[in-house]
Amino acid sequence: MDGFELNKIVAAFLIALLAAMLFSMIGDSVVAPVKRLSKNVLVIPVSDDSNKSEVTKKKVLTPITPLLAKANVENGEKIFKKCVQCHSIEKGKHGIGPSLWGVVGRAVAALGDYAYSSALKEKTSQKWDPETLNHFIHNPRSFARGTKMTFIGLENDQERADIIAYLQKTEN
Ligand code: HEC
Repeated sequence: MDGFELNKIVAAFLIALLAAMLFSMIGDSVVAPVKRLSKNVLVIPVSDDSNKSEVTKKKVLTPITPLLAKANVENGEKIFKKCVQCHSIEKGKHGIGPSLWGVVGRAVAALGDYAYSSALKEKTSQKWDPETLNHFIHNPRSFARGTKMTFIGLENDQERADIIAYLQKTEN
């Protein structure tokens, strides 16, 4: 074995060592972030189909007009207690919300002396008939996104019918 042969062996050994180091470094840099990620994995809950149909069911609102026929005005007056925190039924008397005297049949956001949100002012071409009221009282923000009325909404169909019947009685 001459010096040249020895050199080749040493070189081969060094190259192998270098390659091993290099692979280990590459390996670390590839594997390490994956390991770190696995600790911070975010679990996103996936809703199942039964949940979806529940949501779509609520979005389809029962028409209120057929329910108005058997609506109970006295009960409507009782349920109106949920509104008096912000609304008066007296003509021209505003609270946090506008007076609801004679609101049925009135155009949306029609009272000149009350400062409506732009969300409602955009809808002045619409009228407060039983169906628009039904939608708004059921879910104010779904009827007018950005409305100032922070009321959560009345879920019960008959209660909305009763309250609309009560509001109708205040018409002149
Ligand atoms: C937390 C306060 C609050 C409660 C409770 C509340 N409202 Fe309102 N309501 C408002 C505000 C504020 C407005 C004005 C909304 C706007 O300008 O976006 C409003 C507007 C309205 C309007 C539109 C009137 C118009 O002149 O265009 C109707 C109708 C209405 N509310 C009905 C009701 C009914 C019915 C209830 C009870 C079931 C109720 N609100 C409960 C605050 C409230």
